[in-house]
Amino acid sequence: MSDNAANSSRTVARKVRGQPTSDGAGVRMTRVMGTPILDHFDPFLLLDEFRSDDPNDYIAGFPDHPHRGFETVTYMLAGRMKHGDNQGNTGLLGPGSVQWMTAGRGIVHSEFPEQEEGLMWGFQLWVNLPASDKFTAPRYQDIQADGIPEAELGDGVRAKVITGELGGVKGPVTDVATDPVYYDLDLDGGASYTVPLPGGHNVFLYVYDGSISAGPEGSARRVRRGEMALLSHGSRVEVAAEYNGAKLIVVGGRPLNEPIARYGPFVMNTAEEIHQAFADYRAGKL
Ligand code: CO
Repeated sequence: MSDNAANSSRTVARKVRGQPTSDGAGVRMTRVMGTPILDHFDPFLLLDEFRSDDPNDYIAGFPDHPHRGFETVTYMLAGRMKHGDNQGNTGLLGPGSVQWMTAGRGIVHSEFPEQEEGLMWGFQLWVNLPASDKFTAPRYQDIQADGIPEAELGDGVRAKVITGELGGVKGPVTDVATDPVYYDLDLDGGASYTVPLPGGHNVFLYVYDGSISAGPEGSARRVRRGEMALLSHGSRVEVAAEYNGAKLIVVGGRPLNEPIARYGPFVMNTAEEIHQAFADYRAGKL
């Protein structure tokens, strides 16, 4: 992707469809990034969509596990998850809430459904930290649904702004190393919108309801539910919903351009740092 795009429309450079997987104690989900098909999209390392109204798919939850060197972002569309860590932090993530967790030098945490039936739907995103921030103190930004402002973006177009600024509305998540944007767009059938974006950020969109076309007229591509579109660089992207309307997340961040050493729940810059993370975890230092 070229960088000479200070004032141009982004196009869909690549489309990726998620793969069924399971994680934690057997939670079934769709992994869209962090797979052999799409390992990462700097600074993003993983995207899962979990969506089921069958408790057997989610009830086992995610028992204690460590993280070091990056951030995990949970955005709930439906359902409730209870969160706890080894430093005594707890929280309940309800429908529409976001948890932006900076694992930094390390935490050990768990997530369990706080419901025995009903729909559980949301996303988990992993965002890398630069080498200089990998050993920062762990930090939580827990935002309840009513703390996430909605921008009215014209006829039939709204967005929840989690981080970044859209339509004059600022998201509540701040001071993240990669200066991310995270918008949840909701378009009525036939509605369209041009999303302004930081030119040099890597940006993807993921359609979780309906279908859209993305990109400038003449080179727009169709993106359907369950598909991620990786965008070329540029200052904006045009999106238009098909007749049934569409919902999508638009997520971007400043690429780090650093080596990635990744193993399970640890993301560092070198293999030696990964070995150290395992040693520190075994020694109870996380
Ligand atoms: Co975790």
